[in-house]
Amino acid sequence: MATSQRHILVTSALPYANGSIHLGHLVEYIQTDIWVRFQRMQGHHCTYVCADDAHGTPIMLNADKLGITPEELIARTDKEHRADFADFAIGFDNFHSTHSPENRELAELIYTRLRDGGYIHTKTIEQFYDPEKQMFLPDRFIKGECPNCGAADQYGDNCEVCSATYSPVDLKNPYSTVSGATPVMKETEHYFFDLKAFEGMLRDWTRSGRLQSGIVNKLGEWFEAGLQAWDISRDAPYFGFEIPDAPGKYFYVWLDAPIGYMASFKNLCAWRPDLNFDDYWRADSEYEVYHFIGKDIAYFHTLFWPAMLHGAGFRTPSAVFCHGFLTVNGHKMSKSRGTFIKARTYLDHLDPQYLRYYFAAKLGNGIDDLDLNLDDFLQRVNADLVGKVVNIASRCAGFINKRFDNKLSAQCAETALYQQFVDAGTGIALAFEQREYSQALRQIMALADQANQYIDAQKPWVLAKDADKAQQVQDVCSVGLNLYRVLVCYLKPVLPKLAQESELFLNIEPMNWDAVQQPMLDHYINTFSPLLTRVEQEKVNAMVEASRDSLAETTRHKGQPPKSEMAEPIAAEIEYEDFAKVDLRIARIVKAAHVEGADKLLQLTLDLGGETRNVFAGIKSAYQPEQLEGKLTVMVANLKPRKMRFGMSEGMVLAAGPGGKDLWILSPDSGAQPGMRVK
Ligand code: MSP
Ligand code: ZN
Repeated sequence: MATSQRHILVTSALPYANGSIHLGHLVEYIQTDIWVRFQRMQGHHCTYVCADDAHGTPIMLNADKLGITPEELIARTDKEHRADFADFAIGFDNFHSTHSPENRELAELIYTRLRDGGYIHTKTIEQFYDPEKQMFLPDRFIKGECPNCGAADQYGDNCEVCSATYSPVDLKNPYSTVSGATPVMKETEHYFFDLKAFEGMLRDWTRSGRLQSGIVNKLGEWFEAGLQAWDISRDAPYFGFEIPDAPGKYFYVWLDAPIGYMASFKNLCAWRPDLNFDDYWRADSEYEVYHFIGKDIAYFHTLFWPAMLHGAGFRTPSAVFCHGFLTVNGHKMSKSRGTFIKARTYLDHLDPQYLRYYFAAKLGNGIDDLDLNLDDFLQRVNADLVGKVVNIASRCAGFINKRFDNKLSAQCAETALYQQFVDAGTGIALAFEQREYSQALRQIMALADQANQYIDAQKPWVLAKDADKAQQVQDVCSVGLNLYRVLVCYLKPVLPKLAQESELFLNIEPMNWDAVQQPMLDHYINTFSPLLTRVEQEKVNAMVEASRDSLAETTRHKGQPPKSEMAEPIAAEIEYEDFAKVDLRIARIVKAAHVEGADKLLQLTLDLGGETRNVFAGIKSAYQPEQLEGKLTVMVANLKPRKMRFGMSEGMVLAAGPGGKDLWILSPDSGAQPGMRVK
């Protein structure tokens, strides 16, 4: 099948060494890993490298907070990340670090070549400076009061309360989130990379079929807006590499991060005789280099990175493959909902193969976001993997094991059907090659349906009752197991562990893509044992519970009063769009109850016309529970659920009045029905 052997180097984005791997990250690593495994099965020479992205201010400050050195912090994370990736069967050839000698050497080399090429200049800029911590602060470490509505603790670019956007210098009473000190503006000299000089090259490069259409469109906007010189330096103290000939100045983390791809590869070349660094990276290399990334970091990979490489005399990537973002149950991953799920928490409860399968079933080659709906996840994995695929083996293996001494028939009783399965491999391979995994899996599952239909029609369990039909039983089950083998071969990039265990059970060599051209005849298999069990609802629930963080989204800067203690700001004027975001619904209070240990709250069970919500409302001072039951009221139905001390509150009921006894819940006119939208 493989016409000629390709040499391919593949990377996934380098995860920050500042936090744990979560299911969002895994979209990318699983997507990449499937593609790499597929290429290897095609007989290509495919190398997959990654690394931790170890530099930058957040890592430095975090280490500080933990009372350890950045080196210690990144060593800890390195261990954790490696274990997570290994357990999800992400098959890196090398997992390295950007804080490595190879990366320092390459970053210095690339910088020096860019500087000598005239692409680096310096400029004095003004930046926030924390006089207490004695360091310049990235904008995200500055908070203050919103210049528009006065809300406290807002970040320097937009207000979470009134949605105003502004610049950090507009914040009132700004403070450093690092020390609490009032930042001052201070001048400093920075180094800039002249991106504009590469505009012509980049316009050609980005239009030469290396990028997805969604990204090409985005790039059009960026070109339109004009390419700006890129600030590549940061002042000490900084955890990173010092710039040669510029004491006290460090490379900005995003300068040496993509160079980390090369560094990881270089590190690998040192002990892999089949790899030569220059073969892959010299300007005229014919080998292929692909980067898999999330769409949030496309700018770095489609503009800065190819420009840097080109300017420094290296080859540019063959293509950059972007994917969308993961949502869970239709929302951004959220700690309070328990849907910000770490890789390790998932592994504590569920089989990683389920997630590999589910992501693959949802992944196309575009940049759309994808949703992990946990109900759909359970249903789909159980129906497809357990109910369809593994079921074929379990239906056929018993007969072969028990009645035929583990031996398959000498002839294939269904050569046409078998050939059809073999032929389908071409289309499935094409789908994998194009990263259309959902299409590939749809085709594979259609074959699985066919195999099951065949067994259903032949009914080996009925034939088995008739001593004269022994040959037929053996033939049918042999066909079934041969079809199973083809399916497992096609699923192998997605489910390497299932494939490996099936290879053991079928007593065959590890399969490449062509391995299934001929059926197994006169062949001895091993004893079958269950290869995959069903996803259990309780395990999914337990995983979500373990991911719930009751403190989430309430962390505030110390020394600032909590929002509730501050004078209620007079609400700023809002646009209609803002109002339209609030989903107000009629709700029936079906149950109201005291909450033990809470002196202001009642627990309300609300019927939204089919959907039930649990809400804690601070109306105990004004109502007895029994007064409320059966009443209609108005609720905010799309308020982000909040974990309270007593449980999750999934919305808010509307009430008016100064408080205490003088509080009245809103109630609609008769005729309103639960679930109706309030407009
Ligand atoms: N360190 C940078 C990448 C440097 S590459 C030279 C970075 N790290 S990250 O840890 O924030 O993200 C690593 C990868 O995971 C990125 O490609 C990012 O897009 C992806 N994802 C992070 N969260 C994600 C989702 N919720 N969904 C899908 N992908 C996500 O960015
Ligand atoms: Zn505001």
